Amino acid sequence: MAGVVVQNMSFKVGQTLTITGFPQADSTNFAINIGNSEDDLALHVNPRFDAHGDQRAIVCNSYQDGKWCEEHREGGFPFNQGEEFKVVITFTTEEFVITLQDGSQIHFPNRQGGAKYRYMHYEGEVRIHGIEIK
Ligand code: GAL
Repeated sequence: MAGVVVQNMSFKVGQTLTITGFPQADSTNFAINIGNSEDDLALHVNPRFDAHGDQRAIVCNSYQDGKWCEEHREGGFPFNQGEEFKVVITFTTEEFVITLQDGSQIHFPNRQGGAKYRYMHYEGEVRIHGIEIK
């Protein structure tokens, strides 16, 4: 699998995950995935510069039982190729709250209702600079 994988970690309700990174100059899209394993993703956040038929859109989804669930699209698109970004994620058993660098927020349901996730995967045309859980 390409990208950055973090396993056997613990990201719990009440904690804050801060990710900084840099989409490459020719990035078409990248994704932040959080869940329990490669095939069990509670949250997929996929900024698309130009991918899968979308231009400058953020698509969120979950992946369960071998398939993508219902897509969720919300908010603007405060990402630029070649520019550092910061994404802050918190969650409850009801929802994930994703705060972007312009202060806007995306609310995505925590469909599995988990209080703790142990897997993260960063994929696509992106360099991750920092991952911090506090
Ligand atoms: C698909 C894409 C996946 C994922 C999914 C989200 O079209 O191939 O990588 O982004 O959409 O619903």
